[in-house]
Amino acid sequence: MGHPRVDAIAQEAREAVAAAQSSAELEQVRVRFLGRQGVLTQLLRSLGTLAPEERPRVGAAANAAKRELEALLDARLPRALEAERRASRARERLDLTLPGRRPPRGALHPLTRVHDEIVAIFAGLGFSVVEGPEVETDYFNFEALNIPRDHPARDMQDTFYLSESTLLRTHTSPVQIRAMRTRKPPVRIIVPGKVFRRDVADMSHSPMFHQVEGLAVDRAITMGDLKGTLELFARQMFGPASRIRFRPSFFPFTEPSAEVDVLCFVCDGAGCRLCKQGGWLEILGSGMVHPRVLKNVGYDPEQVTGWAFGMGIERIAMLKYGIDDLRLFFDNDLRFLRQFA
Ligand code: DAH
Repeated sequence: MGHPRVDAIAQEAREAVAAAQSSAELEQVRVRFLGRQGVLTQLLRSLGTLAPEERPRVGAAANAAKRELEALLDARLPRALEAERRASRARERLDLTLPGRRPPRGALHPLTRVHDEIVAIFAGLGFSVVEGPEVETDYFNFEALNIPRDHPARDMQDTFYLSESTLLRTHTSPVQIRAMRTRKPPVRIIVPGKVFRRDVADMSHSPMFHQVEGLAVDRAITMGDLKGTLELFARQMFGPASRIRFRPSFFPFTEPSAEVDVLCFVCDGAGCRLCKQGGWLEILGSGMVHPRVLKNVGYDPEQVTGWAFGMGIERIAMLKYGIDDLRLFFDNDLRFLRQFA
């Protein structure tokens, strides 16, 4: 039976089916022999060009080869598909007994935590949060706060000037002025925010850090109110046994002025490494708002008095968490930050 040329094609097709390794390869064999441009398809289509006596033999042989190949593919293809499905199921199998993957959980930055804590303590005392611009004018940052022209803080070495009259604020105190100018006493505000100084970063300096300003102005506000408020603050921030003391100091915008220390909570005042043997830790500057500052905002110092304070958030956080290098707050080393999760 058959015809030498067709037999050769049929043999080639059988070998191709046997050699195919996957359903995709089987499909390639099908296209190669039975597709529109397939070898057998072309052969059957060209029967008319053969000599009349050749046509029946070649035609019968080609049709037989075609049926044989179709049968072979029909037999192999389902098995190949089934094997592939099984392999892919094995690859993708879900193990429902595995523990779930936990999404990584971030943590608040220690400065954010301390900021939030300070705000919460003063909010509890009826203070509202006010913010001000980081780019300030010379007037709000210095002039209105009674800081004289020749004051060292105004030096180009200490302040980032943007122009003759604008600068990056060196403290949050200018927001005192902004707040008092737009409201009447009683005023009770705290002002958290970034401040900037021309310092090279080291263990205790950073060109940017954070402060919280406090301000209370009303009729008959006294230094006793300041002491009571800060005592309460210290107990909430550093623990109920905390004690504070006032040390006379000087700021141009307060009179009298005081620096406030908290009793060292590591050694209880006995002297240790944290308090550098002094027994006390400085936490802020404060005082009674200078009458000239009150006048600058249009208040009558005969009618109202006030106190103010300014503290560094980094400093409070360093004391509270026993951190000895300011740069750790800004390095964003996860090994440091994760400890506050
Ligand atoms: N502005 C001062 C500083 O940056 C801190 C300060 C001291 C603020 C006394 C005050 C204050 O409101 O009364 O060092």
